[in-house]
This record gives sequence, structure tokens and C-alpha cells, in this order.
Amino acid sequence: MGTIQRIWRHPILDFKRGRSVRFQFEGKRIEGYENESIAVALFASGVKVFGRSRRFNHPMGWFCGIGKCSSCLMRVNGIPNVRTCITPVREGMRVELQGRKGVLPDEPNIKVKKKEEYVRVLIIGSGPAGLETGITSTKLGLDTLIIDENPIPGGQLIKQTHKFFGSKKEYAGLRGFEIAKTMLEGLRKCGGRYLTETSAIGYYWKNKKHKFLAVQKQEDGYQLLEIKADNIVVTSGASENYLPFPRNYLPGVYGAGGVQTLMNVYGVKPGNKALIVGAGNVGLIIGYQLLQAGVEVKALIEAMPHVGGYLVHASKLARLGVPILLRHTIKEAKGEEYVNGATIIEVDENKQPIEGTERKLDVDLILIAVGLSASTKILSQAGCEKMFVQELGGWIPIHNENMETTIDGIYVAGDGSGIAEASTAMLEGRIAGAAIAEREGYNPEDARRIREDAFSELSKLRQSSSLKIVAEGKRKCQQRWNEVKSHEK
Ligand SMILES: Cc1cc2nc3c(=O)[nH]c(=O)nc-3n(C[C@H](O)[C@H](O)[C@H](O)COP(=O)(O)OP(=O)(O)OC[C@H]3O[C@@H](n4cnc5c(N)ncnc54)[C@H](O)[C@@H]3O)c2cc1C
Ligand code: FES
Repeated sequence: MGTIQRIWRHPILDFKRGRSVRFQFEGKRIEGYENESIAVALFASGVKVFGRSRRFNHPMGWFCGIGKCSSCLMRVNGIPNVRTCITPVREGMRVELQGRKGVLPDEPNIKVKKKEEYVRVLIIGSGPAGLETGITSTKLGLDTLIIDENPIPGGQLIKQTHKFFGSKKEYAGLRGFEIAKTMLEGLRKCGGRYLTETSAIGYYWKNKKHKFLAVQKQEDGYQLLEIKADNIVVTSGASENYLPFPRNYLPGVYGAGGVQTLMNVYGVKPGNKALIVGAGNVGLIIGYQLLQAGVEVKALIEAMPHVGGYLVHASKLARLGVPILLRHTIKEAKGEEYVNGATIIEVDENKQPIEGTERKLDVDLILIAVGLSASTKILSQAGCEKMFVQELGGWIPIHNENMETTIDGIYVAGDGSGIAEASTAMLEGRIAGAAIAEREGYNPEDARRIREDAFSELSKLRQSSSLKIVAEGKRKCQQRWNEVKSHEK
């Protein structure tokens, strides 16, 4: 056990694994590496079933890999419902499957320390939006803290191996993981602080201050942080959408982004033969990333009559010999405990399956790449009003052009404010950081100039054919924000 699924040679990535770490899983000894999560170490050792669904007792496995679904909940050192995909493996840990529901231990034996913090700006999420907010506000003189529940900062950037397009100011030409490194270096240089493995779990309004409770994992237990802040910027990103089809719960059906985390962050091969569902940028990019990791890609299917992502990515995949089947969808996954096949079917112009066109594929992986939804739970809990904007991927917090929500002093930026892409996330983060500095009187002239430059860059970016739709969604959102505020007067 321990090495069967690991990638040791990769054309772009060099996996620097730390010291080996031993832990117990269901009474058996498993070996992982420090800096990887429990779920990754288990997957690499051949464990694919992480639990059973509560209602139907179905097997469940890896899905998002970034703490956004509940597919990987296990009992760790007696504590139930631990998200094992974002919990680093530690020497001597006791990990158990928890059955259909998590049961609290009779004798809680958990060390919880408490700490209070006060900052001018608290940022929740260290993806491109959060890092850029942090860099901008810190440079303008504000005391800033970024928290992120994942063990590695950088959000979705850390799993992108391809070079990004766009403007040099937003690091075009660098690969996603290099952008994350450069931004973190920029944050460190200007003195910005960040904490990883720290989840924001609850919002309170106390003594005219925003207050967030956050839980930070530590070697020997947890630390409960009570963070008071004058301004909050939520940059919590997005989660991958699911797709309904028979046996979609089986281990082997994974989010495309979840598989990027497994392969490109941790160097673990997800399987051997893949079907990809969805020809947007994420589906296309995962196609050649799978090939780089030595996975055979049997087909990429798309229900629409055209590819949704950039043609440059589609052409690259076609050149590498991957069939891209338009007007096709998945009919069902095959298998009992894991995926061992899939049936695909053609669809008509109304996306209805055409009987008799079914085709069986011999695959052990089905990757779902059918869009993202903004992660906004924490803003709902804070009471920020939301609206449904189709152009921005669904329900989003209502915000204005300065990225301020309907609650004074609470801002949102990046995918959490509507699904777009990384340059947009950075520019929105810059706007939020500069708007806060201007309002709080920290270098207001510089802050205004930075904000205005970012507006003009964003509006140029949104003239491109792929982002026009985002511009329209944001226009609707600003209009609704104005209506809400005029009712408040
Ligand atoms: C699979 C995938 C592939 C992509 N490929 C590309 C691409 O090739 N090019 C491109 O331009 N864009 C790409 N994107 C889009 C781009 O990555 C995103 O638009 C961008 O990362 C959004 O940045 P963000 O900062 O808003 O969110 P994210 O990068 O998602 O970062 C959000 C962070 O918030 C943290 N977080 C969430 N909730 C909490 C909480 N309660 N407490 C603490 N921390 C929390 C998360 O751990 C995460 O690190 C891709 C996105 C995905 C999902
Ligand atoms: S929360 Fe761990 S796989 Fe989704």
C-alpha cells in the first residue's frame, strides 16, 4: 500500500513530497506524506470509498477536493464529520469511516484554545480575489488578515498548470500555480498576513463591529478565533455543479476541479480511463491535464452543438487525439461500488436523448465539468441580500461596483460575486481593497486612482466575447443594489 496511484514524473510539475507519515485507517496502517490531506493519502493507497450516503447507503468518494461538498466526511481521532480532503494527515492519527451519520464522542477530548483578534480588514478566502484584496489594502496602509480553510493558499490557481491569458498586470503568461506563488510573495513583501486551515464558520454583529468566528486546525487540536473587523471581504470562490444521472454517486464520478487538485496539487493519479462531461474551459483543460498525468481520455462529451470554452484549448485536445462529441450527454454510470463504465447518448436540439444512439465506454473515471455556483453561504448567514442572475451562474449576493454588499462594510469579490475567471477575480479584489482604503481615509488619493484604473481595466476585459455576459449580469446586480438602497432611505 502507499504508492500505487502516485505520479512520480510529470512534464510540468515537480512534486516535492515531505517526510512520510503513518496513520491508522479502520485499524490498518497507511502511509502518506506530510503536507497532503487524509483523503489524498487514502486515495493514493487505493481507498476509494470514503463513506455511505445517509438516505440510500450508497458508497461515496472524492468529489470536490476543496472542502465544499460532504463526500469525504470521516471520524478523525474520535471527532465526526471532519472534511478529510482539507485536513492534513498527521503522524499517529486515527481515521475511521463514520457510517451513515456522524456521532459525537461520549467524552469530548478535544483541545480548543481561544484567541481574539481585531483587524481593519478581514478577508475570507486566499484565491486570486482574496490575495489581491490583501495586497492592495495592505499596501495602502490597512491592517489586513486573510484566512483560508484549505491547507495551501492560492484558491483554484494552485491546480492550474497552463499559462493564463490576459494582461501582464494580472500575470498573463504565467501558469496558474506560478501566479499563486507570485501573489503570495507580493503579500509577504508588503507585510500582509494570512492563516491557512482556518474556516470562517459564523458571523455576528457585536458592539457596532463585524465579528467572525473561525476555527483553525492545529497539531494538537483546534483554535477558536474571534475576529472583530471594521470591514469584511468575502472571497470564498465557487463550488462545482453536479449532474443528475443514474449512479452519479459512485466513487469514480468526480468534479473536474476536484481531480485537478488530486493530480496537480498532490501528484495522485485519479484513475486510468476517463470520460469528461462538459466542454467549457474547465472540461477542456482537464482533458490535457489528464493526458499529462498518464490517464487515457476516451471522450469529452458536450450537450450543446458547440464547444463552450476557448477554441485554442479544444484544438489542442483534438490534436492530442481526444474525441470531442457534441450533442451528447451521459445516460448512466456503470458499477456497484466504483465506476466501471458509462453509457453516453446523443441528444436532439432540445437536449432530449435520442433512443437507439447509446454507446458504452470502458472507463473508470467520469469527470463532471458542467459549471460552477458561487459559494455564498457565509454572506447569507450575515444577512446580505441575494438575487438570481443567470449570467453570473445563479444566486449571488447583491453588490455595487465597489463590490459592497447590501450590508455596510461587507464586501464580496471573485467567483463568490458571480462566476467569471481569474483576472476578473483579481481586479474585483483590487477594487474592494482600494474602496475600503478610500472610505477609511488611508491614502485616499492613491486608493481612488487604483480603483479607477481597475474599473477601466475591468470594463475593457468585459468587452471580450466570453465576458460580455458577465458585464450584463453585473449591470443587473448594480441596478438591484440601487433599488435596495433607495428603499432603505
Ligand atoms: C476547476 C477550475 C478550473 C479553472 N480554470 C481556470 C483557468 O484556467 N483560467 C482562469 O482564468 N480561470 C480558471 N478558473 C476560474 C478561476 O480559478 C476562478 O475564477 C478564480 O480562482 C476565482 O478566484 P476567487 O479568489 O474568487 O476564488 P477561489 O480561487 O476559488 O478561492 C476561494 C478560496 O476561499 C476559501 N474559502 C471558501 N470558504 C471559506 C471559509 N468559510 N473559510 C475560509 N476559507 C474559505 C477556499 O478554500 C479557497 O481557497 C477555474 C476554476 C475552477 C474551479
Ligand atoms: S468536501 Fe471533501 S471532497 Fe468535497
